Parts: sequence; C-alpha cells; structure tokens
Amino acid sequence: PGDADVQFAAGPWTSLDDVPPELLRDRNSDPYPFFAWLRRNAPVLHERKRSGLSVWHVASHADVRALLSDARLSKRPELVPAYVPGPAGLNRHLVHADPPEHTRLRRLVNAAFIPRRVAALEPLITRTAQDLLARLPEFGVVDLIEEFAMPLTFNLICTILGVPDALNTARTRQILAATVIPSADAARRAVQERELREYLLALVAHKRAHAAAGVAEADLLGALVAAHDGSDHLGEEELIGTAYLLLLVGHDTTVNLIGNGMLALLRHPGELLRLREEPDLMPSTIEELLRYDSPVRDATFRVSTAPVELTGGVIPAGAIVSLLIGSANRDAAWFAEPDRLDLARQPNDHLAFGRGPHFCIGAALARMEARVAFGLLLARCPRISLAFRVEDLTWRPSRVMRGLERLPVMLG
Ligand code: HEM
Repeated sequence: PGDADVQFAAGPWTSLDDVPPELLRDRNSDPYPFFAWLRRNAPVLHERKRSGLSVWHVASHADVRALLSDARLSKRPELVPAYVPGPAGLNRHLVHADPPEHTRLRRLVNAAFIPRRVAALEPLITRTAQDLLARLPEFGVVDLIEEFAMPLTFNLICTILGVPDALNTARTRQILAATVIPSADAARRAVQERELREYLLALVAHKRAHAAAGVAEADLLGALVAAHDGSDHLGEEELIGTAYLLLLVGHDTTVNLIGNGMLALLRHPGELLRLREEPDLMPSTIEELLRYDSPVRDATFRVSTAPVELTGGVIPAGAIVSLLIGSANRDAAWFAEPDRLDLARQPNDHLAFGRGPHFCIGAALARMEARVAFGLLLARCPRISLAFRVEDLTWRPSRVMRGLERLPVMLG
C-alpha cells in the first residue's frame, strides 16, 4: 500500500505531534520520561518521518514481547521500497532476512557463538582487560569508553572474525562507527559507504589469499569465506554484509553495556557498594544493567506483512514497526519498581537481547565480556567516581543504540 493508505488504515493512533515537546527535546539524553509517557498515553505511536515514511512505535512490554516473535512481522526492509536501514550496499545479512533464508545464514554464523567457543575466549578477554587496565594511571581522569570498553570489545570481535592486526586499527573503528550515525550530507555518506565497502573487500581478499595459500584459519570470517566458495551458497553480498554486521554489532552494543552499566553503578553508590561486598551478585547485576539502561533501546525495525491488532487499534500491513526495548524494560506492568536499580532483581525477564528467531547470537559472549570487564575494573579502581555531572555527559545521537560518546571517570 502507499503511505497515504497506510496512514488511513491506522485508525486513531497518537501521533508524534501530540507528544509534549520537552519530552522529545530530551529524549536522546534521557528517553525514560518519554517512554513512560508513551506507555501511559500512546502504547503505539505513529511517526511520520521527514522522508515521508511512517513508523509505528510500540512501547509496552507485553506488546514488544509478543511482536518480537510474531511471524507477521518481517525483517526484510525491501518490503517498504523507500526504506533503507543502514548502508545501502551492506544490507544483505541475517538481521534483514526471514526464514528460511534467515535460518541458513544464522546457522553459518551461530557456530562461532556456542557456549564452548565462548568459554574458550575468556582467558583472552581477561588478558586484554588486564592489559588495558594496567595502562590506566593511578590517579586522574580517564575516558572509560575510549581507554577500556571500546578496545576491549573491538579487539575481541576482530579475534573472533580473524581480522589481521593491520586491519584492526582506530581508523577501522572510525569507518565502522561513521555508518551507525550516518552523515546528513549525501556526498559524505557515499564516501563513508565506499570506504567501508573497500575495507570489507580487503578483509575478504585477505581471507581468500590465506585460504588459497592453504593456511587453515579457525576463525569465523575464514569459515564464511569457505562457505561462500563451497556449496552453502553464501553470496558475495551476503558475505560482505555479514562481516559488516558482526564487526559492528559485535562491539558497539557491548561497549554500551559497559558504559551505560558503569554509569548506572556510579550513580547508585549504595548498589555499587553492595556489589563490591557481594561479588556473587555479578550475574544478576549484569541482567539488571541490561534492563535498566538497555544498550539497544529500539529493536531494529520490522515490516508488517498483515494487519496486527493491538489494544486500541490495528497496525496495517506494509507498515514499519519499531519495538521499543528500552521502554518495555521499564514497564511497571511487568517489573516491580521499574525505575529502581536493584542488582539482585529476581525475576528479571528483560528483552535487552530481543526474543524469538532473531534473539541475539552474541548474548552469551556479551554477558561473559561484561562479567570480566566489571569484575576487573572494580577491583582495579576501588575509588572510581564520575568526573563530570551527569547532565554534561553526551549521548550518541542514535535512535537504535543507547550509548555514551565518552564516560570520563576519576581514578584514585
Ligand atoms: C541481534 C542486543 C551483543 C550479534 C540482537 C538483537 C538485540 C541485540 C536486541 C535483536 C534485534 C532484533 O530482533 O531486531 C544485543 C546487546 C548486546 C549484544 C544488548 C550486548 C550487550 C552482541 C554481540 C554479538 C551480537 C557481542 C556478536 C558478536 C548479534 C547478531 C544478531 C543480534 C548477529 C542478529 C540475530 C538474528 O537476526 O538472527 N542483539 N546484542 N550481539 N546480535 Fe546482539
């Protein structure tokens, strides 16, 4: 259907124009008052984007939970012709596929993230974290994102994929990061996408050359290249798209878990002390940090392939649907005192890793990275505190990811 038909069929949904302007103004730095307003007043919100596209945002835990695994919602962006999430030339990967294609792509990638493979990475994560922490000064201000979370998680995903040192650089991180929050300038965007494609092609060429030379490499990208050249039909575009996806989500999200999580702990000194005194709380702490300030605040889009009935109205077929994980995880209908940070919270049935067929492949890895990172960081920095007022922290201007640009802390 055309966009006008979609809007007509949508019925009386609240529109973005009805939201109090101050909630919209502050929604990047503090989305929670906006989310609370949505759950109370507009559990489904209709937004008409400047591009002319319509998006339906879903805010309640029950709806987000149900829709994350509802087969009427597709993950194929091409169902809405004008919609292009992410860099246009790198869209072919499992996040943008439905079964059976999704099942095939996911199976190829999943092997690298089974519990045995994840457990085998723990010594490497520990060593990398220890090295990074050893480089921090005893006293003074450091940026935990740049000096700790980013290199820790990026080096790890590069190891899993098999990215050679020469292609694992700060410049690479910059090229990848540029595509998450694309430039408003079309010419600049085109340059960024070209740089990224060139980078990924160089990476794949490196793997091919090694395979041709008979160098067996037990890494994920080597395996994907072999699958491409073998019988499992991983096309060139899928290969590059998958490499891009993994490089990006493999570190970006976990950086946010470490950054948002550390900020939450520093803002709740009583809870931080509790964790220091009861280290057994670490597993439930990580779940609570995932819930309290979720690294992915909005599940990536879905497209409705049939009308979807929700309390109060129907989302028509052909609509872009955004599932607000950050809101679902603060819903009082599901969690007792949802705005309170409680490191021992039980049960804690959050949706931070999604749910259903697209449930996060890297969940076990992210949990392990976070456990090691928080454990070593707190042990190394017994008097760590925030170096700036919370109001002065800057958040990355993304609707999908929730993460800090920098987290300056005072050591010693
Ligand atoms: C999917 C969150 C870490 C790889 C997802 C989804 C969420 C999520 C919410 C579902 C998206 C949707 O349904 O539309 C997170 C969070 C992380 C994290 C909060 C860290 C705290 C990782 C890591 C990796 C990874 C470390 C890989 C190394 C993936 C992949 C998918 C995915 C490949 C797509 C699965 C599919 O479409 O079948 N993640 N993720 N994630 N995640 Fe993660």
